[in-house]
Amino acid sequence: EKNGFDSFMLKEIHDQPRAYEDTMRGRIEARSTIVLPGIELSEVQIRGLKQIHMVACGTAYHAALVGKTVIERLTRIPVEVDLASEYRYRMPVIRKNTLVIAVSQSGETADTLAAMREAKQWGARVMAITNVIGSSVAREADDCLFTLAGPEIAVASTKAYSSQLIAFYLLGIFMAQSLETLDQATQIELITMLERLPAQVEDMLKGNMEAVRQIAEQIAGHNHLFFIGRGLDYSLAMEASLKLKEISYLHSEAYAAGELKHGSLALVEDGTPVIALATQELLLEKTVSNIKEVKARGAYVIAFALEGNTELEKTADQVIYVPRTFSLFTPALAVVPLQLLAYYTASIRGNDVDKPRNLAKSVTVE
Ligand code: F6R
Repeated sequence: EKNGFDSFMLKEIHDQPRAYEDTMRGRIEARSTIVLPGIELSEVQIRGLKQIHMVACGTAYHAALVGKTVIERLTRIPVEVDLASEYRYRMPVIRKNTLVIAVSQSGETADTLAAMREAKQWGARVMAITNVIGSSVAREADDCLFTLAGPEIAVASTKAYSSQLIAFYLLGIFMAQSLETLDQATQIELITMLERLPAQVEDMLKGNMEAVRQIAEQIAGHNHLFFIGRGLDYSLAMEASLKLKEISYLHSEAYAAGELKHGSLALVEDGTPVIALATQELLLEKTVSNIKEVKARGAYVIAFALEGNTELEKTADQVIYVPRTFSLFTPALAVVPLQLLAYYTASIRGNDVDKPRNLAKSVTVE
């Protein structure tokens, strides 16, 4: 059942091209329009939305952080993202015309369910982005957008996270259709690039993953490292850091690249690995100056950059390249080598990658 892979995690990482295709299937019409039958929110209701709240835990929360940027960029509706365990107790301001989106692979996470119930009580409309049809989250939501990643066995989420990103891309374009925030040509261009993602992931998996394994060899002996990034790279850094922590048991921290010098830079010393995500072209120059900052303190920098941005080789010690796509879609590609980095690091350290200590796949208690 592991299809020849040594673990479910590795199998699930390789299952992502299929998961992306299934999540898009039947939802793109004539290569130009998004249709989402599970969403009953009308065009008028979408136009009336004043704000969106997203609630989730762990990896799903990190997907929601990407989702916030995607939805805000494509629709200009303000989005707030909360950890479900915080949202349920913080008396969130839910006004009329608030949409709450609960993101959950299992659809059974106790805090996420409680957060959505809280939101409903205050009159919000609730949408679920979940991987399990018939789950509690799906049953209690007004609208459902299913990720079709298939069953995820490994405790560390990989294909469910990346399929949640695909769901947000579909939702963003879908809402933009009602709001008329995208011109037709741009919309077609985005959909074309979206449809190209599965093949791009496939190519990455066939490509330079040996380079990622070598980086894992280098970091496996350290006790502490940083991930840094700006914008979507910061959201992705949080996910990459969680993935590495949960299965390798290395301590790592994700930092907004511009925030490091406000305190944590003090932890960077000779040889400290810093993994710099630099896939957002508009922020590239800023991230490069942050890379120089940590280099000056002796950090060993591994950069993740877009193909063609070879100038990073002058600043970073090593560079892993990610294929080009529309900037909002980059996390759906860049996440793949980061998942593999966690996987290889954990394997090198002799850990059970599918069943990390202290963790359960589904957290149905508070
Ligand atoms: C980490 C991981 C967890 C889950 C979290 C929420 O790899 O899998 O952080 O993302 O427990 O679970 P769901 O998405 O089922 O609500």
